[in-house]
Amino acid sequence: MILVTGGAGFIGSNFVLDWLAGSDEPVVNLDKLTYAGNPENLASLEGDPRHIFVQGDIADTDAVNRLLALQKPRAIVNFAAESHVDRSIHGPEAFIQTNIVGTFRLLESVRKYWSELQGDAKAGFRFLHVSTDEVYGSLSPAEAAFTESRPFEPNSPYSASKASSDHLVRAYHHTYGLPVLTTNCSNNYGPYHFPEKLIPLMIVNALAGKPLPIYGDGQQVRDWLYVKDHCSAIRRVMEKGIAGQTYNIGGWNEKPNLEIVHTVCALLDELRPRVDGKSYREQITYVKDRPGHDRRYAIDARKIERELGWKPAETFDSGIRKTVQWYLANPEWVAHVQSGSYRDWLQTNYAARAA
Ligand code: NAD
Ligand code: TYD
Repeated sequence: MILVTGGAGFIGSNFVLDWLAGSDEPVVNLDKLTYAGNPENLASLEGDPRHIFVQGDIADTDAVNRLLALQKPRAIVNFAAESHVDRSIHGPEAFIQTNIVGTFRLLESVRKYWSELQGDAKAGFRFLHVSTDEVYGSLSPAEAAFTESRPFEPNSPYSASKASSDHLVRAYHHTYGLPVLTTNCSNNYGPYHFPEKLIPLMIVNALAGKPLPIYGDGQQVRDWLYVKDHCSAIRRVMEKGIAGQTYNIGGWNEKPNLEIVHTVCALLDELRPRVDGKSYREQITYVKDRPGHDRRYAIDARKIERELGWKPAETFDSGIRKTVQWYLANPEWVAHVQSGSYRDWLQTNYAARAA
């Protein structure tokens, strides 16, 4: 079996669902269930003996040691993290705790477990660490996309904490020989995306008749990948990646934020027109920029294509249409995540950003 951490979050839950749709190899899913962890994402697996859910913290060494000894995974995929840049600006502590201390403690537990394995079990074991393109910092408009050899220049508490964890993972390979793999992926979008992030926030706000808040001039560029393509890339790296290597994952889909919001509005205009016949674009408002806002991310995904033969299946047009359709088809999921703590976050993040 495999152990997935953070498998109740956005990408982790998509990964678990896709894994079990394509394989009968069981998954142990260790998740702390922070605000971002949502068991409803995994509701379709209820009663499925191939999915074992354990609520717990990657930083809880005793619990992780017990889990490894009991379940004996052949591989671990580490998604568990605090993941939202704006939250890291308002409160960096949790990012240091989970992304740095948590990854360190998990690595220690895994090192102990792996060092006691024998023969093929030891040789075949893999620890895959899921990371972000944000560790590389910000690109100017004319610069080439990030390759795996680009120096790290993180600019937010989130990206700095992820960069730290990537360095620790690397060091455990070089120092102890732990068979690690690291993936650095661009911005994901798709089903089960928590509506604090750009694309789901815009869909949810548009449908609720609320403002669509664009930070600064809206010309910041992100490189978008449909979440299921990220999951297929991770499976490929687990299967074929070379221990100790890093793989950048992206779909060559650079777009300015404003263009993304216009696309979401156009799809909603088509699929769920406003009752007054006007475009959802009318709801766009410009708000105060994010401090230290990275201007552009772009992933050079040639290594994973060349060495592992991976390419994304979705274009941005097909992926964003599926995403908008998913949110329209799942109003209960949206209603359930808009709890009291979600409303508190909207107040914290947006009240001080007057249009
Ligand atoms: P998310 O915030 O939606 O989910 C994170 C999950 O981790 C949640 O289920 C949460 O409960 C769990 N978690 C948090 N702290 C934990 C802890 N201490 N122990 C156990 N579980 C804990 O995040 P996501 O968007 O799914 O991102 C998953 C991973 O992918 C992260 O490592 C993130 O840095 C990385 N990543 C995300 C993106 C993106 O666009 N979302 C892009 C590239 C890389
Ligand atoms: P986000 O989804 O938070 O991802 P990240 O910061 O990790 O790239 O934001 C994507 C982009 O959208 C980023 O440039 C910030 C911008 N943004 C807005 O303009 N308005 C918003 O309300 C949010 C949440 C993000």
